Amino acid sequence: MWSNTKGRELKERALRVIPNGMYGHESTRLLPEEFPQFFSQAEGAKIWDADGNSYVDFVCAYGPNLFGHGYAPIEEAARRQQMLGDTMTGPSEIMVDLAEAFVSQVAHADWAMFCKNGTDATTMAMTVARAHRNRKIILYAKGTYHGAAPWCTPRPAGIIPEDRAAIVYYEYNDPESLADAFKQYDGQVAGVFATPIRHEVFIDNFEPDLKYVQTARRLCDENDALLIVDDVRAGFRLARGCSWEPLGVLPDLACFGKAIANGYPISALLGSDKARAAAQEIFVTGSFWFSATPMAAAIETLHQIRTTDYLEKTKEAGAALRAGLDQQAAAHGFQLRQTGPAEMPQILFAEDPDFRIGYAWSVECLKRGVYLHPYHNQFMSLAHDERIIAETLAATDLAFEALKGTVGSAEPNPNLMKLLAH
Ligand SMILES: Cc1ncc(COP(=O)(O)O)c(C=O)c1O
Repeated sequence: MWSNTKGRELKERALRVIPNGMYGHESTRLLPEEFPQFFSQAEGAKIWDADGNSYVDFVCAYGPNLFGHGYAPIEEAARRQQMLGDTMTGPSEIMVDLAEAFVSQVAHADWAMFCKNGTDATTMAMTVARAHRNRKIILYAKGTYHGAAPWCTPRPAGIIPEDRAAIVYYEYNDPESLADAFKQYDGQVAGVFATPIRHEVFIDNFEPDLKYVQTARRLCDENDALLIVDDVRAGFRLARGCSWEPLGVLPDLACFGKAIANGYPISALLGSDKARAAAQEIFVTGSFWFSATPMAAAIETLHQIRTTDYLEKTKEAGAALRAGLDQQAAAHGFQLRQTGPAEMPQILFAEDPDFRIGYAWSVECLKRGVYLHPYHNQFMSLAHDERIIAETLAATDLAFEALKGTVGSAEPNPNLMKLLAH
């Protein structure tokens, strides 16, 4: 029987010693109050909260778990390196192995630099782009997420106009708006940021038009600016290289993070020879950027990416989940809006502008052992096999049934409404 006694106590204790009890993208402040904030264990496709409730985890740590929690070959590689040495006075020789593995895996990459989080990689990409021709303007698609540094964080508190003075916003998927920005800042554009797909919270997700992708490449070439694909969230989830490779467009720089070591802390900036001189000029570093254990985990993750059918399997699992949910929703008199690629599915309800239906359903799922996010895209892992999808669909069917009884009294979430009003 689901309960959250300990989870509630933990949230109260946390409120006293951690701002808001938790901060950042893993904070549950905007989620229904039943959502657990703290977890005790993870294995395969499952996570356990502090009360011992287990859930099929469709958030996968917001992306990192590509092969499932605790995937043995990657854990063994990490443990072997941990015994040898982790944070030393210089990197382990395996840093070179890892850079070579990325260069042979990702088409545009001639070199790799490693850091910890996606924001490190995107900020480093911006710095390389500016150093490339000593220009300052960065073209940034309005509303896309590139991390939590002052130049890109989505919340205004603590940010000054100067932090964004050289950031110019264009419309994602709109080649004309990109061309206009280049025209307006003729000769000043250092680089263009693009997420590989539109995968933002609260909205229907979608893949970009080829014309936008090709125009971004052409305009960067014509204006000697660098094209930066931010693959932090989608990297290796849509393709075995950069996510725009299947579209036939290669960037100059790509940012990877999240899934590249199946949960171990490491991110990467992968660049082409064109950007090498600029990358050699800048100074970027961090005390933990060169730790060897995450690098060992990343080497094994890349090996698994090359040698297993994880990509096909996660696409299949996502498609099975999507089809099952659509069928159940219709049978219970609801309509879903399922968008984005099946392996990173965004699951919203039709005609649910204040998200109250989705929130109510996510609570019913949670209480039946399925952790589905009500406004962020989900993530599939190799551990989401047929058995897990069947277990999930058995629970979601009951959740839809229960929703019929509660949807009439569902209210919008006040914290969410406050945020969306700004
Ligand atoms: C596209 C994209 N870029 C950058 C980031 C920032 O990554 P991190 O949270 O590891 O700093 C994220 C995180 O969600 C992301 O989705």
